[in-house]
Amino acid sequence: MPFIPLTTAAELPGPDEAKEFPCGEKMICVANVNGVISAMDNVCLHRGGPLGQGMIENGKVVCPWHGWAWDPKTGEAANSPGVKVAVYPVQVEGGAVMIDLG
Ligand code: FES
Repeated sequence: MPFIPLTTAAELPGPDEAKEFPCGEKMICVANVNGVISAMDNVCLHRGGPLGQGMIENGKVVCPWHGWAWDPKTGEAANSPGVKVAVYPVQVEGGAVMIDLG
């Protein structure tokens, strides 16, 4: 699938922050872990919490509702191996941030 625009580089979360962005009918959680940008589904698989409103701790996005931690690179739940949210490739091209929703 082609990469489509998600946001601008200026809107990306700062170091060790997460942020949510609408993309078509989805919300996407973008995380910045030590300057590495990654994107995954925004909906926590526990009870649907908004991951992009969470904090980053130890390189994981922590859901703001009940604290499940998610690896933004693999989408895997830290405490439930094999439980994964979808992750998506992102590219920063000049000032544009592009995502491939697959
Ligand atoms: S909804 Fe995310 S931890 Fe419960």
